[in-house]
Amino acid sequence: MDQWEQLRQQCMSCRACGLADTRTNVVFGVGSPTAEVLLVGEAPGASEDQQGEPFVGAAGKLLDDMLAMIGLRRQEIYITNSVKCRPPKNRDPLNTEKDACAGFLRRQLELMQPKILVCLGRISAAEIIRPDFKITQEHGQFFEKNGMWMTALYHPAALLRDPGKKPETFEDLKRLQDLGFDRLPVCIAKTPFSLTADAKALGAPKGFRVPVQRLILNAGAGFIVVTTGAIMRMPGLPKAPAAMQIDVVDGRIVGLS
Ligand code: URA
Repeated sequence: MDQWEQLRQQCMSCRACGLADTRTNVVFGVGSPTAEVLLVGEAPGASEDQQGEPFVGAAGKLLDDMLAMIGLRRQEIYITNSVKCRPPKNRDPLNTEKDACAGFLRRQLELMQPKILVCLGRISAAEIIRPDFKITQEHGQFFEKNGMWMTALYHPAALLRDPGKKPETFEDLKRLQDLGFDRLPVCIAKTPFSLTADAKALGAPKGFRVPVQRLILNAGAGFIVVTTGAIMRMPGLPKAPAAMQIDVVDGRIVGLS
């Protein structure tokens, strides 16, 4: 039996907290455990508890539509929740329940090593990205943590309650799509001119540059820099005044104008 299946079976028979007494099914997750993109919600609701699969109710239908907008189907990614059993009457999971369950998500991350982790909603983002995560201000921004790119979207249930948030979520989804699901190294720069410093973070020695393939605006938090993966000696960039533009042609920084 492989390690993923072993973990799944441990999770299915878990009785580490009181939710084991009220659940119908444990909801371990759905999709491909070798996917590069992992979506993490909060906890199963009534339909998920009945069917043993995450996001199968009304919010799940919207999530499928959101994924379809960027050409993804649930079998091409992996979807799970930070808590694997339904809290009665859909109340927020207790800290004791979150603690009892945390090891399963940690192990899922270790085994999957996704490239991009997408938190669905504030509770998942607070659990995974940062305890004081502000979903209204920080949704759609990318953060590098533990070797992964993490971002948070509004929870689909929140979008059903407040459809006015859908256009912002559409922008967030497009940014996610732009980032690409290939294996190009990416980094975050506050401005295009801090690329030299960020090249260091990608392992480029002093005097070397990492050629840029694409710059993507990071929701008001600077740029996501998608590099070509090559580290090469390049002439130093002149000190740039604030209004300068960076020119990228065929993946190379060709100048500042
Ligand atoms: N909400 C969640 O956070 N997860 C589900 O699986 C369903 C609804």
